[in-house]
Amino acid sequence: MTASIISGKELAQEKRKQLAQEVKELKEQGVVPGLVVILVGDHPASISYIKGKQKASEEIGVAFTLEHFPETMKEEELLDVIDKYNHDESCHGILVQLPLPDHIQEKAVIEKISPAKDVDGFHPLNIGQMMIGEDTFLPCTPAGIVEMIKSANIEIAGKHVVVVGRSNIVGKPVGILLLNEHATVTYCHSRTPDLKEVTKQADILVVAVGRANFITGEHIKQNAVVIDVGVNRLETGKLCGDVVFEDAKQIASHITPVPGGVGPMTITMLAHNVVKSARISAV
Ligand code: GUN
Repeated sequence: MTASIISGKELAQEKRKQLAQEVKELKEQGVVPGLVVILVGDHPASISYIKGKQKASEEIGVAFTLEHFPETMKEEELLDVIDKYNHDESCHGILVQLPLPDHIQEKAVIEKISPAKDVDGFHPLNIGQMMIGEDTFLPCTPAGIVEMIKSANIEIAGKHVVVVGRSNIVGKPVGILLLNEHATVTYCHSRTPDLKEVTKQADILVVAVGRANFITGEHIKQNAVVIDVGVNRLETGKLCGDVVFEDAKQIASHITPVPGGVGPMTITMLAHNVVKSARISAV
């Protein structure tokens, strides 16, 4: 038996249709959900991610504004721009694309964004709310992963989830969200000895390390669910995940492809957060 593919692309299309309907209803009440994306510099991957966010926003009916500044922009100037949009009622979500140039402190920037417009879910206040299981803006990739697992009717409660990677954006929060869904969660990272001994215990294996083909067949338990968050560009120009797809397909019960897996759901959850913010502002 080969693994079932959990298509993020198809799920994202369904969700985007639902969001477009919600946006239509909000517009009838005179509210146009607005997203402002701020880019400092010309990081090629950032430009490509932002194009995806713009396309999804346009599809759903979210008003998309890009504020693009040169690499030399000062931190103070960036904080002022954020402050302007914190007070702009037509803006419901502010996203500062990461990474930022080295001379700008990421922490100061994230903390400047109003928690009520933090559609990335990166502000410490929103992270705290997520930790205690409160309704808040959830970080987009982890929230998208939970939606994908649920869409395949996979039970999370009681399952052993192993997360490989401990970034603040994906690894740490996805573990928390799955813990909140009553999974038993183990984190692994670059200093975990005998990685495959741990990953082989996973009923649900989430891999977010950013290294092409890092996880092979020998890391995966028979019939595990494999969620591959990696997006790596090979020298050939081809995109691939952190998991050797052909290996995992023979062993897992379910697997997410790259491309067409977690990526489209990340962008959709961003739009979900913008619409949520607009809905809150409408009441
Ligand atoms: N850079 C890579 N992923 C992300 C993301 O989800 N949000 C932001 N703001 N920057 C990123």
